[in-house]
Amino acid sequence: MKVTVVGAGAVGASCAEYIAIKNFASEVVLVDIKEGFAEGKAMDLMQTASLNGFDTKIVGSTNDYSKTANSDVAVITSGIPRKPGMTREELISTNAGIVNTVAENLIKHSPNVIIIVVSNPMDTMTYLTHKATGLAKNRIIGMGGALDSARFKYRLAEATDAPISDIDGMVIGGHSDTGMIPLTRLATRNSVPVSEFISEERMAEVKEATKVGGATLTKLLGTSAWYAPGAAVSAMVHAIANDSHKMFPCSCLLEGEYGLNDICIGVPALIGANGIEKIVEIDLNDTEKQELVNSAEAVRKTNGLL
Ligand code: LAC
Repeated sequence: MKVTVVGAGAVGASCAEYIAIKNFASEVVLVDIKEGFAEGKAMDLMQTASLNGFDTKIVGSTNDYSKTANSDVAVITSGIPRKPGMTREELISTNAGIVNTVAENLIKHSPNVIIIVVSNPMDTMTYLTHKATGLAKNRIIGMGGALDSARFKYRLAEATDAPISDIDGMVIGGHSDTGMIPLTRLATRNSVPVSEFISEERMAEVKEATKVGGATLTKLLGTSAWYAPGAAVSAMVHAIANDSHKMFPCSCLLEGEYGLNDICIGVPALIGANGIEKIVEIDLNDTEKQELVNSAEAVRKTNGLL
């Protein structure tokens, strides 16, 4: 498997590192517009290979997409990250142009590529990538739900004082501070509903902390987070490489699923060799359905700014 990661900033580099450490890809190409930056990150990462025990070749490129030719998967992380106090939606005017150009360059050199979009506002950037490339809907996946669900599990484990491996949970909806829908009703500790272990009030706190998970980190770090976003992308790329049909909530183009049309938003999907193998329609209760409608409305509003 050959993977391209566009944007050699913190998220892109973490993503390349986690993919390499799992040792399933033959090559990872890091691309950046800043002269020498991707080459430097690639060289630094390659010098960890003998220490971390991987054979994946990491190559850097300053905006030369010929090096990305015939990639199986490409990850778009390019664009500006948010600063403390900013919403992801505020990044749209800068990032839309960048994502558009990157997507076109990727397709030119890798006509069969599966694209994972990370740049924010992610659901809108995923939608834009569909519009810019016209690729089949299975080949464009927005990364948000995998990350938000990991943050949800972290908060659930913290609240229940349980090991994270005991916890399961999923976040659907838009990848935004107000649009995320942590499915608290379905969260479990070793198949027992988490609601058996914590109060409704504590669960509400977990839900809120999950939704502002990215903003909390941005405030602490002065910029957007990178380890968990990188790990979430690498888990999705691994599922594609292994054709594992693993279920991740991710931003998919909907054509009637969940009663929504012409929008990319986080829903559960099976990820395999063809990208999105299947969108899974789960039974939501009335409150969750309404939350998804509200979340979709907000995403549409951002899409309208394109
Ligand atoms: C975050 C960015 C990747 O949530 O949106 O950390």
